[in-house]
Amino acid sequence: MDVVAPSLVTAVGHAPRRADPCAFVIFGAAGDLTKRLLLPALYNLATGQLLPDAFAVVGVARAQMSDDEFRRHMTDALEEFASDGVNQETRDDLIARCHYVRGDFDDPSTYGRLKTELAKVNRAHNTGENCLFYLAMPPDLFAHVARLLGESGLAKEENGYWRRLIVEKPFGDDLQSACALNKQLLGAFSEHQIYRIDHYLGKETVQNIMVLRFANGMFEPIWNRHHIDHVQITVAETVSVESRGKFYDRTGALRDMVPNHLFQLLALTAMEPPSRFEADAVRTEKLKAIEAIHPLTKDCAFADIVRGQYTAGSVQGKPVAAYREAPGVSPRSMTETYVAMRLLIDNWRWAGVPFYLRTGKALGARKTEIAIKFRSAPLALFRDMPVENLAQNLLILRIQPDEGAALHFNAKIPGPDVRIENVRMNFKYEDYFDAAPSTGYETLIYDCMIGDSMLFQRAVDIEAGWRVVDPILQAWGAADGRDLHPYPAGSDGPKEAECLLSRSGQQWRAIT
Ligand code: BG6
Repeated sequence: MDVVAPSLVTAVGHAPRRADPCAFVIFGAAGDLTKRLLLPALYNLATGQLLPDAFAVVGVARAQMSDDEFRRHMTDALEEFASDGVNQETRDDLIARCHYVRGDFDDPSTYGRLKTELAKVNRAHNTGENCLFYLAMPPDLFAHVARLLGESGLAKEENGYWRRLIVEKPFGDDLQSACALNKQLLGAFSEHQIYRIDHYLGKETVQNIMVLRFANGMFEPIWNRHHIDHVQITVAETVSVESRGKFYDRTGALRDMVPNHLFQLLALTAMEPPSRFEADAVRTEKLKAIEAIHPLTKDCAFADIVRGQYTAGSVQGKPVAAYREAPGVSPRSMTETYVAMRLLIDNWRWAGVPFYLRTGKALGARKTEIAIKFRSAPLALFRDMPVENLAQNLLILRIQPDEGAALHFNAKIPGPDVRIENVRMNFKYEDYFDAAPSTGYETLIYDCMIGDSMLFQRAVDIEAGWRVVDPILQAWGAADGRDLHPYPAGSDGPKEAECLLSRSGQQWRAIT
């Protein structure tokens, strides 16, 4: 089996080059993200021979641990979370490259010790001076770590080597805090050194949206207001808040999912073709799509946006307690676990075409998809026939699970009279591609190591997303919460969300 993740294979089918020599420094190395995602992703890159020969991991965390103890933890993490069986030789080689520095993130002496360790690592693994700093820890520490990296000289790029900072989400919790965080990070690093992650961009099916639109001749001519009735973007989750109650209760579905993941899907669907397949050209077109979203006001925060919170129910046969009973959640919480909205994009391509977005926890099925509904065919030709089934054409991009795409169109039911039924053509990734195990983080980490920032967000991109949702946050903040609609866990969300589409004679696609 080809072990190279398909996204990492160039258009002409060649496997890509190994990444540059570097040290991969993880702040928060004892945390969940490191175990569940980062180490397995590094392992998958090692399996695909995409890591450089001169490579090392330096974990930084508060816990007292020796290098050997850290290596044992990382070995256990791989056993537990690597997506396929672990090859012992590859694992041992990766683990032998793991080092550990103990320290508090806000203590300057930690950075002194990190410098000493990096020099040692360079002698042992020949990593040179390139360093990637991954902030895999609570967001309130992002700015401190960046500042102390700057003050210790570790952010400085000179003599041709690079220093890069990967920042996880959440990136701020409103426009003001996101701008403040950007300012703080930019006080220590330059924009070109900062890689702000949105893990949705690591997904193959998300990267495929641009390929589908711009590598095929048939979609682009009809991808506009003349042919498209509306777009539905759904990110439905079956998971409830589980152990994240404390974080989630002050975050909610809107902040957690919309200005980032859902807007990425919207931007890729709505953007104009970029002039080049290159980081800034692509990001600028995506930014223009977000900036063209019709400004939301306090009034539309209630007319065009529906929020909900799950009550007790059962998701796929398993009982789920009400959100308000989850650990860390206030019993009187008014936090939304579901949000649906109707947006308009004010440009020549999309004027008048509604984009409906929805996302929620504890819904009846896990489903992320983009549904493009085309305008109805003129009925004249079939006027005198039974045409009750003349459905509008639909293109569904299935992001996850069951990755693929489907086109729904009308066909004649065989028989002497003309009767019409809606049929579908279905493409499934698994039928065509022998994809390597992937956490989605492989592409992002590899791209950062080779300095390709196309799949990362710039300061302006992050701020544009927050700028759209900020009026909703403010309107909700000032409201009494009467518009927070309960929905039973395991359902499709609150019934009130239906009115967003029924006003135009449309309806949501079923989730369950
Ligand atoms: C994260 C959110 O960014 O994305 C989570 O904080 C959410 O609440 C997750 O569950 C969804 O990601 P995925 O890849 O499972 O769709």
